[in-house]
Amino acid sequence: MSLFRCPLCAAPLEREAGAYRCKAGHSFDVAREGYVHLLPPNQKHSALPGDDRDMVLARRKFLSRGYYQPLLNTVCSRMSAVSGEAPVLLDAGCGEGYYTAGVCQALRAAGRRPRAAGTDISKFALRTAARRERAAEFAVASSYHLPLADGSVDVLLNCFSPLALEEFRRVLKPGGAFFYVVPGAEHLWEMKEILYDKPYPNDEKETPYEGFAYREIVPVEETVTLESRADIQNLFHMTPYFWKTPRAGAERLAALETLTVRTSFRVHVFKKL
Ligand SMILES: C[S@@+](CC[C@H](N)C(=O)[O-])C[C@H]1O[C@@H](n2cnc3c(N)ncnc32)[C@H](O)[C@@H]1O
Ligand SMILES: [Zn+2]
Repeated sequence: MSLFRCPLCAAPLEREAGAYRCKAGHSFDVAREGYVHLLPPNQKHSALPGDDRDMVLARRKFLSRGYYQPLLNTVCSRMSAVSGEAPVLLDAGCGEGYYTAGVCQALRAAGRRPRAAGTDISKFALRTAARRERAAEFAVASSYHLPLADGSVDVLLNCFSPLALEEFRRVLKPGGAFFYVVPGAEHLWEMKEILYDKPYPNDEKETPYEGFAYREIVPVEETVTLESRADIQNLFHMTPYFWKTPRAGAERLAALETLTVRTSFRVHVFKKL
């Protein structure tokens, strides 16, 4: 039985060779890479929603260089601490599955038997994700309409993706854990100093979301040296600044061969009440 539910009638889905099917006869083909498309046309607000091919490629290349490994390690160790023997995980807005695969591997290495699902609205992202972690299920779906049953998830991860609180509350079991990863105030500060004449720090908030209780906020602070123009440009391309930087700033950045930059994250860990 799949972790996913039919997006048309909410019945359980069975994964068979090449397709997911519900009892009512709705059927969804599995793509060559192994993910399934569960986004109904009325939830698709553009022809190709979510991150495009170039953004996905930039993030895949950047993450594969290991610069964000300390964040992954922190998420993994905190997740092992709150997970049971056979947790059901959901990575909502999972992108190319860097964290989905990382946490699955870490939990298996800690002797657990995770069942994992990743959802994202970008099929380009899932092409990579599904190849990266064969043991997990991946679906093209919106975080605002998750194709999962009420109370079916033990641990939900959201890394830099849309915060769909109502759906997260619905799919999490009472007592389940919600990991919400956001940038810290000075994340990529030195890059912003090059891009903008007057850079602003990110807002840092501690928000007691309804239906959740804080367990902890874990800071992850590093200084990394990006060792090539390609690494710098890939990082730039995966940030929101890529779309809103004046030309002069982008040109200053393009001239750099290396860049030493602070990375700063906050891992907000909640318990679902
Ligand atoms: C900044 S990326 C983060 C990806 C991944 N979690 C990571 O940290 O590497 C944001 C992701 O959210 C996805 N996304 C945007 N809107 C979405 C939505 N409504 N539902 C699900 N995913 C969405 C994008 O396609 C993209 O892959
Ligand atoms: Zn159905």
